[in-house]
Amino acid sequence: MSFLEIKDIRKKIGSNEILKGINIELEKGGFLVLVGPSGCGKSTLLNAIAGLLPPSSGDIVIDGQVVTDLHPSKRDIAMVFQSYALYPNMTVEENIAFALEMRGVEKAQREAEVKKVAKTLQIEHLLKRRPSQLSGGQRQRVAMGRALVRQPRVFLFDEPLSNLDAKLRVEVRAEIKALHQNTHATIVYVTHDQIEAMTLATKIVVLKEGQVQQVGTPAEIYNRPANLFVADFMGSPAMNMLKGKVSGGGIALFGNDGIKVAMPPSVTANLPDGKEVILGLRPEAITDSGLVDPKVVSVAQIEADVTMVEPTGSDTFVTGRIDGASFTARTRADLHVAPGQKFAFSFNLDKAVVFDPQTTQRID
Ligand SMILES: Nc1ncnc2c1ncn2[C@@H]1O[C@H](COP(=O)(O)OP(=O)(O)O)[C@@H](O)[C@H]1O
Ligand SMILES: [Mg+2]
Repeated sequence: MSFLEIKDIRKKIGSNEILKGINIELEKGGFLVLVGPSGCGKSTLLNAIAGLLPPSSGDIVIDGQVVTDLHPSKRDIAMVFQSYALYPNMTVEENIAFALEMRGVEKAQREAEVKKVAKTLQIEHLLKRRPSQLSGGQRQRVAMGRALVRQPRVFLFDEPLSNLDAKLRVEVRAEIKALHQNTHATIVYVTHDQIEAMTLATKIVVLKEGQVQQVGTPAEIYNRPANLFVADFMGSPAMNMLKGKVSGGGIALFGNDGIKVAMPPSVTANLPDGKEVILGLRPEAITDSGLVDPKVVSVAQIEADVTMVEPTGSDTFVTGRIDGASFTARTRADLHVAPGQKFAFSFNLDKAVVFDPQTTQRID
């Protein structure tokens, strides 16, 4: 039995079914990230876990206790919202201590707990200030402090970083990660940002239109996406999707008389010749020959026209074009290549995943 169980949760608002039977399990100390495009139902699901919005059917179970009909205050959870919802007329210290005060914790102990949390979050020097005297990142930390001090069974975060600028977002993200590693808290975290999901989660759930698309570790989601939606949503630049046809145990890419690439038998053994497929390859799996891992078994050298070169500093994204199809390769930063040239790209087919364009599901 898992620590948090989300059992067949459905939510209808009017005639609109927003959650269509969600099943998720999370172990104690796990960091679950719910990720998906805006409007897919992430906040609705989080609010159902919190008890702020009752589901139409299904159950929420925490540590073996069915809490579906329990008042939010009785669930022993803490939620951090996108808008930090701090009390403006209280100091940082008072904001953090408030929940303890409500619970009747005596003053000396309150002060000790606040001090401990403030140390963890490095906001000790801010305790006497009011929220209006804090930066966005500091307010965010206070909001986390308010949740942390309660030591709840589960932490819920709803897009906590989306009001911060890019640099601060990366900093606070690292703090949240460290916080999880240090406290072993059980966390459910909502974001539309796939990089946040990859960097924070021990377990990712990808949602689309109120339905779970895939549950897995960040590596599973990234390397073996369950369908075209997940493959496209996770990773930036996006996974290359190359049209092909099964041909004599391999795949012919880039149109009918395109380039044939060898595939492991596990991929094509059960597919008839001529079957249309989509071969998915991340940009880092298409590169210059100098970057190919010597352990790779199946590499194809494919010559293509270079149409764009985008240096990022650490490496360079090169757009190649062949038979009307484009792809993005990730190459060494010091590669000398320019638009208008031809270049021999190395395709690492060990990393390829194959999708059925009809069902959109991964085949292999
Ligand atoms: N109170 C509501 N009444 C009607 N529709 C709602 C309500 N709350 C959310 N929705 C709809 O439910 C869907 C999911 O919303 P939400 O859970 O907020 O998505 P997300 O957090 O993933 O962006 C959206 O299409 C939204 O318009
Ligand atoms: Mg939301």
